Amino acid sequence: MRVLGLETSCDETAVAVYDGATGLLAHEVYSQVDLHAAYGGVVPELASRDHLRKLLPLLKKVLEAAGGEQRVDGIAYTSGPGLVGALLVGAAVARSLAFAWKVPCIGVHHMEGHLLAPLLEQAPPVFPFVALLVSGGHTMLALVHGVGRYEILGSSLDDAAGEAFDKTAKLLGLGYPGGPQLAKLAERGRPGTFEFPRPMTDRPGLDFSFSGLKTAVVVALRGCDLDEQTRADAALAFEEAVVDTLVIKAERAVRQTDAQALVIAGGVGANRRLRARMLAMGERNGVRVVYPRAEFCTDNAAMIALLGHLRLAAGQRDDLAIRARARWPMTELSPPSGVV
Ligand code: KG4
Ligand code: ZN
Repeated sequence: MRVLGLETSCDETAVAVYDGATGLLAHEVYSQVDLHAAYGGVVPELASRDHLRKLLPLLKKVLEAAGGEQRVDGIAYTSGPGLVGALLVGAAVARSLAFAWKVPCIGVHHMEGHLLAPLLEQAPPVFPFVALLVSGGHTMLALVHGVGRYEILGSSLDDAAGEAFDKTAKLLGLGYPGGPQLAKLAERGRPGTFEFPRPMTDRPGLDFSFSGLKTAVVVALRGCDLDEQTRADAALAFEEAVVDTLVIKAERAVRQTDAQALVIAGGVGANRRLRARMLAMGERNGVRVVYPRAEFCTDNAAMIALLGHLRLAAGQRDDLAIRARARWPMTELSPPSGVV
């Protein structure tokens, strides 16, 4: 079965075609990051309008690369969680195409897509595996037993890890998205100049809280001369605090489960300090640490087409409704089933 996937939940427009027999045939992502940079964050209305502009040309390009529309047997689109106006663009296009082409269609969960993205790789981790999802919108630790079978071990009670990077970067006078720029500045930081807390690591549990860290940075810098070196020192201490916190919780998660692998997904997974520290932690615990390719870690449609395939090929179908859900708890997900 060959499935077309559409992703428009936030600020990336993405299209992919996944074939159950041969794997990923084509995928394209158009990032709106330049559009939103001037505003220091994603502007929902601009995001929706840009999805409208970009989705059809991108779709055409991907379909051509994948051998044409007549070869598509099913369609999957991200129906939540995300920005509702942005989601509606992908949902309406997917539903309409499915109606016109007379193929089955399904609205899928964006985070479920992230959790199963490692299955796009050549040597995928075996179930059950622990997944740490760290992006601009989400921070979550989950035990992935199989398709639709997720145990949420912990998540952020406030800011996502990437959001904390972005907000702190802004405080330090850096542009958007701030994570990569903050990491670069941190390379010139002097260890030990500042010390920030490792939130919620002094008590049991796997939830996260990052909003206090940003405040800690503000307080520490109060009255300081904000020269380049001081900002670099603060960036380093902040990065160390976030990375330490994520490593401590991920280590707890692998120890309390029987997982053989830890998958790290989401934009913050690109952070080099985090990568090195997680690899060392994996070695300590005899657990394989897997980083899906960067293009499958950040928002993409390959994961949506793959997830759609897993569900559609198992016989699951949606009715004709166009579904867009700003909020959609993962606890509502279940293994592939019949008509919704
Ligand atoms: O998964 P992603 O590309 O997009 C969504 O959140 O949808 O994640 C983007 C987030 C941003 O907050 C960005 O600042 C952060 O990932 N990020 C990083 C790094 N690269 C991207 N944070 C820390 N270090 C990095 N090297
Ligand atoms: Zn995402």
